[in-house]
Amino acid sequence: MESALDSHASTDRVRYETSPLNMSRYGYAVGLLRYVIMLGEGEFDIRNEEDGIEVWVTQMGNYMNMNTAWINRSTGTVAIVDPFDSKRWVAALKEQGLRPTHLLYTHTHRDHVEGYRDMINLIPEIEVWGHAESNTPELLSHAVFKNVDFTNEWSNAPNTTIEWSAGGITLAVTHSPGHAPGHVTLHGYGVYHAGDLLFTAHSGRVDLPGSDPMAQWHSVLYARNLLRTLPEKWRLIPGHRYDWIDGTTPDWVSIEDALSHNFSLNSSVLRSLGGD
Ligand SMILES: [Fe+2]
Repeated sequence: MESALDSHASTDRVRYETSPLNMSRYGYAVGLLRYVIMLGEGEFDIRNEEDGIEVWVTQMGNYMNMNTAWINRSTGTVAIVDPFDSKRWVAALKEQGLRPTHLLYTHTHRDHVEGYRDMINLIPEIEVWGHAESNTPELLSHAVFKNVDFTNEWSNAPNTTIEWSAGGITLAVTHSPGHAPGHVTLHGYGVYHAGDLLFTAHSGRVDLPGSDPMAQWHSVLYARNLLRTLPEKWRLIPGHRYDWIDGTTPDWVSIEDALSHNFSLNSSVLRSLGGD
């Protein structure tokens, strides 16, 4: 990633020390036009959003899994999406006097539930949420999935959105199957966490056991309509940090940019499904 950026003769590399956690941020300015944020592994971007809710975002693992957490300090509620390295999460939260209270799973592919066992060992009382269709026994015969014991399940129909709330945090949960059964996206407080439905420039693969290409297109169409209702400056957090349309690899893009440039959100296939 750095080599691509460094190939620009005019690249200026800037390091920012901003976080109260003493974690560094790296910014890259290419000429005067581009600025790309890249989180180091296990480095947290922390923002204060409305109603006193904090949003923490990080990337972890060889596949650059993106994790998001919504935190309400006044109630001690910490809801984490797909934590990859649970020891890292728990340690970083502990520095702030916080402790995970809820796991929210987008789907049960191994890389997304990688941190489940460690998290249960560290926080046995944690609530574990996922969609009922993401954890059926027949899926577990495929190596790409890994067992998770949900304490609570969502069961809404495909391409419907329901509300989830705990400890003063309220999120919208959309059932968006196709990449994997029972896949969900979550949004609230300035963030749309897309899981493996959408990456910054593409949508998730549909050639895995349990994948359903047509269901994925319907989910992408539903997502496009949903994203159009959200503030355009909100961040789309992908399940993995992959390349953007210009060859850079940002941690996220704005909803405005995703709607304008994501290849799947702009595919002609969506027109054949009734999209405009
Ligand atoms: Fe996946």
